[in-house]
Formats: sequence, C-alpha cells, structure tokens
Amino acid sequence: MKVIKCKDYYNVSRQAANIISAQIIMKPNAVLGLATGSTPVGTYDQLVRWYDKGDLDFSEVTTVNLDEYRGLSGTHEQSYRYFMNKHLFDRVNVRKDHTFVPDGLGEPKAACAEYDRLIERLGGIDLQLLGIGNNGHIGFNEPDTAFETMVHIVDLKQSTVEANARFFRSIDEVPTQAITMGLKSIMQAKKILLVAAGKKKMDILQKSLYGPVTPDVPASILQLHPDLTVIYTESEE
Ligand code: GLP
Repeated sequence: MKVIKCKDYYNVSRQAANIISAQIIMKPNAVLGLATGSTPVGTYDQLVRWYDKGDLDFSEVTTVNLDEYRGLSGTHEQSYRYFMNKHLFDRVNVRKDHTFVPDGLGEPKAACAEYDRLIERLGGIDLQLLGIGNNGHIGFNEPDTAFETMVHIVDLKQSTVEANARFFRSIDEVPTQAITMGLKSIMQAKKILLVAAGKKKMDILQKSLYGPVTPDVPASILQLHPDLTVIYTESEE
C-alpha cells in the first residue's frame, strides 16, 4: 500500500487526478470505477481543468459507479447518476452510453445481477476511486457486510442516513436503501485509489489501514489489495 499525505484538499485532488489521468494516458479505453460523496468532487474538477486544457481525452473511457440510492431516478438531484453528470460526465467528452451507474429503480435481484455481468463484460475495473464513510463504509458497504459480496442491495445505517441528510431538504427524504458494488467487486479492481479529507475521517482511516481486517470496518479489507494508493489530508481546507 502506498500512502500519500497532502497538505490540503486541493493537493489531495490534484494527486488523485494525476493517478487517474496517468491511467487514461496508459490505457485510453480504461474502465474507471468512480465514486460519489463530497471528497472526490475536487478530483473531478481537476480532471475537467486538464480536459479543458486539452491534456486529457475521455472519448474511449468507460466508467462504472460504485452505488446508487434505491428509489431515486437518474434525474433526481440527489441521485448519484445526477451527481456524476453534473460533476464529470457533462463536462468532458466521455460517451454517455459508456457511463454506468447501478439502477436504483429496477427490480433488485435483476439490477444487481445485471451490474455484476456488466463489470465482467467490460473485463473488470482498471482503477477504482473510493471515498470512505464515517463508519468505514466504502461504496455503501456498511459495517458487518460479508467480504465476499458482489453487487447487492443494502439497508443504510442510521448514521449514514444522517450523514447524507445534509444533501436533502429533510432527513425523511433520504433513501434508506441503496444498490452497491460489494466488497468483492471492489477488491477485484486492478488498482484502488482511496481519498479522504478532514479531521473527522482520520480515526476511521487509521483503523482501516492499520487496524485488524474485519467486517466491522469494511474499508479494512483494502489492506489486502495488492495495488492500493491512499491519498489524504488532515486539513479542513
Ligand atoms: C456516501 C457514498 C460513499 C462515500 C461516502 C463519504 O455514503 N456512498 O461512496 O465515500 O458517502 O462521503 P464524503 O466524501 O462526502 O464524506
């Protein structure tokens, strides 16, 4: 595992964007696993800046996102499809039909199986970007998720619903279920890039990277990945 400590959020975003752009330069038709949450926003902004300068080309890239809320359509402002369109896909030359987000409205079993098959058909994920939840979740794999899970439906923990309520008008509007890549789906990515920012993430990051590997801390499984890069800052700026 490679751990890079940065002085602030801007540098976390630049370093992460550097690794993603190196991946695209090495393999223009790369399959990128992407993440939502506030942490990767700066990374996407940086990629867009380089795209605008003419340094990056997404025309052959395919993207697969980690997760989606159950019950929200892609046009809902808090859906992860909407988030990705707004922060990245609408701002670069990726082909929209090469961008995939799990189906939050489909019949659960079929939607999960279809997403597993999609990742397999694409030949797996070359580089998976991850944030980390306050309780150590990655994607929406909450504590106590079995390590061997593939794409599945989850009941969100109350603490996750509360953490994500800041994006909704009221907590009652926050979906209580999601469809997410499982820990096994994530671990099968060829490379993993985890970004974390701010003091409140430091304790869970420490536990994830150096504590026991246990389903109590879903991100702890990343310790076993052969190509993990972690980029973080303690700074709130
Ligand atoms: C959500 C997402 C995760 C993300 C987490 C942390 O729960 N499903 O993928 O890592 O939020 O988000 P933030 O970066 O805003 O702290």
